[in-house]
Amino acid sequence: MKGLILSGGEGTRLRPLTHTRAKQLVPIANKPVLFYGIEELAAAGITEIAIVVGETHQEIRDAVGDGSDFGVSVTYIRQEAPLGLAHCVLIAEEFLGDDCFVMYLGDNMLEQGLGEFVDRFEKSREQTPSLMDDAGPSRAQILLTPVNNPSSFGVAELNADGDVVNLVEKPADPPSNLALVGVYIFDSAIHEAVRSIEPSARGELEITDAIFWLIQNDYRVSHQLLDGWWIDTGKKDPLLECNRLVLDTVVRRLEGAVDDASKVEGRVVISEGAKIVNSTVRGPAVIGANTRIENTFIGPYTSIGDECVVVDAELDHSVVLEGCRIDGIGRITDSLIGQHVQVTQSPERPQASRLMLGDHSHLELG
Ligand code: DAU
Repeated sequence: MKGLILSGGEGTRLRPLTHTRAKQLVPIANKPVLFYGIEELAAAGITEIAIVVGETHQEIRDAVGDGSDFGVSVTYIRQEAPLGLAHCVLIAEEFLGDDCFVMYLGDNMLEQGLGEFVDRFEKSREQTPSLMDDAGPSRAQILLTPVNNPSSFGVAELNADGDVVNLVEKPADPPSNLALVGVYIFDSAIHEAVRSIEPSARGELEITDAIFWLIQNDYRVSHQLLDGWWIDTGKKDPLLECNRLVLDTVVRRLEGAVDDASKVEGRVVISEGAKIVNSTVRGPAVIGANTRIENTFIGPYTSIGDECVVVDAELDHSVVLEGCRIDGIGRITDSLIGQHVQVTQSPERPQASRLMLGDHSHLELG
């Protein structure tokens, strides 16, 4: 089994951060979202991985390299324009050959490991023909979960026997509340499917349409219901929620220096070279390498990147990327702050601020 991770696309919903950085590299608990996906594939024993990359290819290559840090080998496939998820399969055909593969959307994060999902697909294919039902072995396996806003996703409809009978991408009038999660398994039948479909109204070759093509052509598509949380991190609030869920699992580790006037409470990571001076860090929280926190309260569910300076501030439930300076600010909450942003005090302080700032911004709050 091979792996195909999709890390092209434009990331319009995380602008302005994604003007300058791939959305798959935005950090969750100070680690890029994409790394979690690679680690999941590696943990499921999948070591031959291709990553589809677009305009941000260089940044992704610089971050992931040849995959050896993850114990996998990575091939990059350049997509000239974001022409759709099924287009990614089309351009990966040479790499994939006749092998089965897991397709993983590079901005998705799942609590559930991939191991059981892969095992289930492989077992269904190992059965002898006499044991199989009329439809034969699975040619594709999808992961589904109920959501409140199905119109924002691919949606599956099941019949009374629990078989997938209909699939539609971002429908205005959803046939169910079961969304397609961004992890799929396919065998080589998908290559014929992606060649057979037409672009959707938004001009993309939709993987949802390709899977529906399999069903219409009597290929068996099986499904599993998701266990645990799943987040498409391509927007600010889900990204903060994901950061919260992952921070809940970090193990306390204090590598940097904490002075006697400071308190570090609960699940907290203070990375190497960080300095906590006359401050409280109340976990779950992570503080990046060489970051200085002074006269500050860092509240729960906060990730501060490497090389930041945070002075005379209060921050909670926020993600701050590397190289930021936050100085003299009353309170920042529910915020996502890009690289090298400066937020400094102005004479009249607001009680609380909610921000989404791009890389290299300079903001003075009034
Ligand atoms: O998150 C789950 C949803 O992902 C599914 O429910 C939908 O059926 C599926 O179409 C997809 O919808 P999104 O609109 O969220 O997809 P997005 O454009 O965000 O792309 C997902 C990933 O694939 C992202 O990491 C960017 C990458 N991508 C996307 C396109 C369109 C590419 O590499 N190339 C592309 O052409």
